[in-house]
Amino acid sequence: MTKKPLIAGNWKMNGGLAANQALIGALLQGLDTPSCDVALCVPAPYFSQLKALLEGSAIALGAQDISARPHGGAFTGEHSGAMLRDFGVRYAIVGHSERRQYHGETDEHVAAKVAAALASGITPIVCVGETLAEREAGRTEEVVKRQLAAVIHVNGHCLSEIVVAYEPVWAIGTGKTASPEQAQAVHAVLRAQLQHAAGDHAAGMRILYGGSMNAANAAELLAQADIDGGLIGGASLKAPDFLQIIAAAR
Ligand code: PGA
Repeated sequence: MTKKPLIAGNWKMNGGLAANQALIGALLQGLDTPSCDVALCVPAPYFSQLKALLEGSAIALGAQDISARPHGGAFTGEHSGAMLRDFGVRYAIVGHSERRQYHGETDEHVAAKVAAALASGITPIVCVGETLAEREAGRTEEVVKRQLAAVIHVNGHCLSEIVVAYEPVWAIGTGKTASPEQAQAVHAVLRAQLQHAAGDHAAGMRILYGGSMNAANAAELLAQADIDGGLIGGASLKAPDFLQIIAAAR
C-alpha cells in the first residue's frame, strides 16, 4: 500500500500578518515539488490570509482545533467544520495535549471532535501521548491505547480517514525528543490497535511523530517503519528548518 508521508506544522499561538507573509514567502521559494504531503495548522484569525497565500501551492491549510458541534447556534468562541471548510481547511489537529491539559478536553470530547471533522470532510490529526509521570510509571502503552480507543469507539466506520499523531507530552517544546526506537515502539502499538479496528486499511494510515522534531533528528525518526510523517511545532516557524524536515520525508 502506498502512502505519502505527511509533514504538518503546528504554529500554535504564533504568527502575525507580516511574519506569516514572510514565512510563507520563504517556504514557497524553497519548496520544489515535495515528495510528501505538507500542511500548516495556523491560528484561525489567519485563515483568510493563509488561504490566499497558499492558493495553488503544495501546502494545505490546517486548523489547530474544531468544534465538536454541528454548524450554528449559541457556542461562543467555537469554530465549526463548515466555517473551516469556507477557508479551504483540509486538516484539523484534534486532542493536542495542550488542549487536553489547558482546556480540559476529555477522550470523549476528542472523539466527538474527530467525528465533527470527518462529517465536514476535514482530515483530523488525532494526537495521543503520555506525560513523563505516566511514562515513568510504565503506563505509556495503556494511556495511548485508551486515548485512541475512544476515537475508534465513535469513529470506527471511517477510521481509515484519520491521521494519528503520537506526541509524548514530555517531548513537546522541551528539546527532548523520543529516541527513534522509543517512538517506533509506540507507533507499532498504535498500528496494531488500528489494525485490530480497521483491518487491512491500517497499513495505509498515517501515524505521525511529534515532539521536538527538528532538522537534525527528522531523517532518523522518519526512517522508522511505522513513522509516516511529523507534527512539528517550533521548527515549523523557521523556513529553513521546516524545509529540511520536508526534504527528509520521502
Ligand atoms: P514541538 O511541538 O515540535 O515544538 O515540540 C510539537 C507539537 O506540539 O505539535
